[in-house]
Amino acid sequence: MRNAFVVAASFVICCSIFYIRDCHVPNSGRNDTNKGSPSSPDYHLYNHTIFLPFVEPFSSAEVPLVSITVNATHIDMPIDTGSTGTLIGAPLLPGISNDIGTPAYQFYSSSRLLYTGRLVDLEIEFHGSAGGRNHSFPGSYALATVPVLVVDTSLRCPWYDEQVDTFECPPNPKFPTPTPKKTNNITYMGVGFGRNKMAEKNRNDTPRSNPFLNVGKIDGYFGPYRNGYTVSTKGVHLGLTEQNTKGFVFVNLKTGYTHDEDPRDWAMPDMCFGINRWEDMNCGSALIDTGIPQMYLRTDIGVEIPNVTVHNPSHEELWVKRVKPGTEIMVGFPGTGGKFASEYSFEVGGGEAVEPSFAVPEGQAPPPFINTGRNFLYGHSVAFDADGGRFGPWCSANAMESLLNRHRMNHVLLPHRSTVCCFLLTHVSASGIMPTILGAWKSVCACVEM
Ligand SMILES: *[C@@H]1O[C@H](CO)[C@@H](O)[C@H](O)[C@H]1NC(C)=O
Ligand SMILES: *[C@@H]1O[C@H](CO)[C@@H](O)[C@H](O)[C@H]1NC(C)=O
Ligand SMILES: *[C@@H]1O[C@H](CO)[C@@H](O)[C@H](O)[C@H]1NC(C)=O
Ligand SMILES: *[C@@H]1O[C@H](CO)[C@@H](O)[C@H](O)[C@H]1NC(C)=O
Ligand SMILES: *[C@@H]1O[C@H](CO)[C@@H](O)[C@H](O)[C@H]1NC(C)=O
Ligand SMILES: *[C@@H]1O[C@H](CO)[C@@H](O)[C@H](O)[C@H]1NC(C)=O
Repeated sequence: MRNAFVVAASFVICCSIFYIRDCHVPNSGRNDTNKGSPSSPDYHLYNHTIFLPFVEPFSSAEVPLVSITVNATHIDMPIDTGSTGTLIGAPLLPGISNDIGTPAYQFYSSSRLLYTGRLVDLEIEFHGSAGGRNHSFPGSYALATVPVLVVDTSLRCPWYDEQVDTFECPPNPKFPTPTPKKTNNITYMGVGFGRNKMAEKNRNDTPRSNPFLNVGKIDGYFGPYRNGYTVSTKGVHLGLTEQNTKGFVFVNLKTGYTHDEDPRDWAMPDMCFGINRWEDMNCGSALIDTGIPQMYLRTDIGVEIPNVTVHNPSHEELWVKRVKPGTEIMVGFPGTGGKFASEYSFEVGGGEAVEPSFAVPEGQAPPPFINTGRNFLYGHSVAFDADGGRFGPWCSANAMESLLNRHRMNHVLLPHRSTVCCFLLTHVSASGIMPTILGAWKSVCACVEM
């Protein structure tokens, strides 16, 4: 009898009307870490913004692209929220002679790629939805001038040590000298925050080099402008307004290393994650990284992540560790009152849209850290307020969309305003919804406007 009422993982029940910020906020048992920066700024005072649509539909497989022009070259530029600073291969910029700029380098630890070249201050034109400079269309272009690394050489250096090495990949007796790669196709724009570390000698990873934080003009004007941006699966808003910050659940950020020199410098957001249960909570910082599809997790001492060793023929290491399928990963962003402002969870191998392509256990090395990878955006939009030091995930329309796609349902309203209905997508039985205890929410919070 009971089975007759069980609808497998696809029944939508309207629980009640909530404000979106009340959408699944379990008690994390953690004290507030938010202090220092102002809360609830008057976003209605700001009306200057531009929407940059992604060039291609958002996909787990690719870094999202926005359309830009730099020094008369059109580029569909990959946007990486996991790093800071712009790279363009020298052959793409024939207008920039090879003797101008300040020698510099950039190393990416995830890809082990070392780029060397010259930093040149360049004006970047972002193309809004009208496709570029078009004075009859508001929001058609924005200009930002930042130092760009014009790349002369590029190579993969697996043994590069960021603490010691600089412009060169040091010789390694065990491996042949890496062959330089072509530079005619190098384009990369890091727009992340909290990525600068004092330890690093190369300092092109500060807000000064972040094109999203150095917008000078939008459509030729610089109006009341709130420095910051939002990112969703659809694209990017440069400049925060009341309209484009609606629905975000903001938490305050700690100051970044160079905040005293540059008030736009903020640290990565605080985060706690649990493995199968919240009790072994790992609290540290989070990186929402559009640059990669996978997830990295680092736990506190004593917290083991169930893992399997798998064959990895495409890299130097033949065997690599992955989080074991079936493991539940729960991630929360601490808000006020010992509660999470926002959180999500998924089961490794469960196939949800927010699940990363794979999850890498990085071992027990405090402070805990999580890099969510870009699939996070399937469940949330994110906002970064560089003037106020605030970060906001938003349990977004995409969550609903992706869940509906998964469960082959269609035609439901998607949220725009703050009044929403929270849906629980789970097993339904004669006794109603299954218990709403932690861990029972197999899907990200899904909210629909009423
Ligand atoms: C929160 O802070 C108060 C006062 O500092 C302390 O007494 C309490 O134990 C803390 N609670 C937790 C869960 O850390
Ligand atoms: C933006 O705000 C400024 C100052 O508050 C105002 O003068 C201007 O008309 C506003 N523009 C729009 C498009 O609302
Ligand atoms: C490209 O950059 C060079 C060097 O800064 C400058 O002389 C030239 O005017 C620029 N061209 C364009 C189209 O921006
Ligand atoms: C401005 O954009 C509109 C709509 O896309 C287009 O019809 C018009 O030709 C554009 N004007 C210019 C000068 O590009
Ligand atoms: C340049 O990169 C793009 C995107 O990664 C790729 O589609 C294209 O084939 C590359 N072109 C060359 C000449 O390598
Ligand atoms: C992987 O699992 C083993 C035991 O199965 C454990 O000792 C080890 O700490 C785990 N690795 C990580 C990175 O959690």
